[in-house]
Amino acid sequence: MDERVRDEMVVQAIAYAQERLGHDRTGHGMDHAERVARMARRIADEEGVDPLLPVMAAYLHDTVDDKLVADSARALEELRAFLGGLGLSGTDVEDLLHTVSRMSFAESLDAGREGAAADAAAGPAGLSSAGHITQDADRLDAIGAIGVTRAIYFGGAHGERIYDPAVSPRQNLTREEYRNLDNETIYNHFYEKLLGLKDTLNTPSARRIAERRQRFMLDYLAEFKAEWEGLA
Ligand code: ADP
Ligand code: NI
Repeated sequence: MDERVRDEMVVQAIAYAQERLGHDRTGHGMDHAERVARMARRIADEEGVDPLLPVMAAYLHDTVDDKLVADSARALEELRAFLGGLGLSGTDVEDLLHTVSRMSFAESLDAGREGAAADAAAGPAGLSSAGHITQDADRLDAIGAIGVTRAIYFGGAHGERIYDPAVSPRQNLTREEYRNLDNETIYNHFYEKLLGLKDTLNTPSARRIAERRQRFMLDYLAEFKAEWEGLA
């Protein structure tokens, strides 16, 4: 495919995402999409994979997410029409649609849904190699310094308390429990999700990048706890 045609596809994907996520103030705005796209490009380069689909999926992944759009089935059909108009092959369109609808953390908790068994048999989340890269880039954006900031931002927006020593982190969350924030604290979110993300990464590059981010989060939590107890 001509380099200019590829660049133009990315430009179109950015405009499509901007129109749908530009107003977001929940941590899923264009700044998140841009970081995920940068990281997806880096991982694809390091892994020797064509970055086009990982980067496209990075820009588009939150435009069909059910926590952001009222009707995600309809959003997926809109996206299918958009991608169909770009001149991508049918296989690439299906790869992108599959990636954006299956890559989220909440989706991976949803074991009861149709097709979950087939997905499990096909490997982690049943994603393509492009999908594995975009999913890694998205998950890296939830850890490290950016991850700490996003957790606090999200927690504040949803009225979470910062910490309560009497509330233990929950384990083996279902999708519903994950979205139930009644007794959630920002501190517990690290133990319920963020510290475990590194073990769900698909590519060696992402696992390497995660190491430093993991150390940063552990240092942060140790410091937080020590200050809370008046020890530091
Ligand atoms: P996904 O899109 O993969 O399902 P989420 O929408 O659940 O991911 O998470 C988006 C961002 O919000 C992440 O940075 C995540 O850590 C943060 N977040 C999600 N749930 C909570 C929570 N209960 N408390 C604090 N931050 C949260
Ligand atoms: Ni995301």
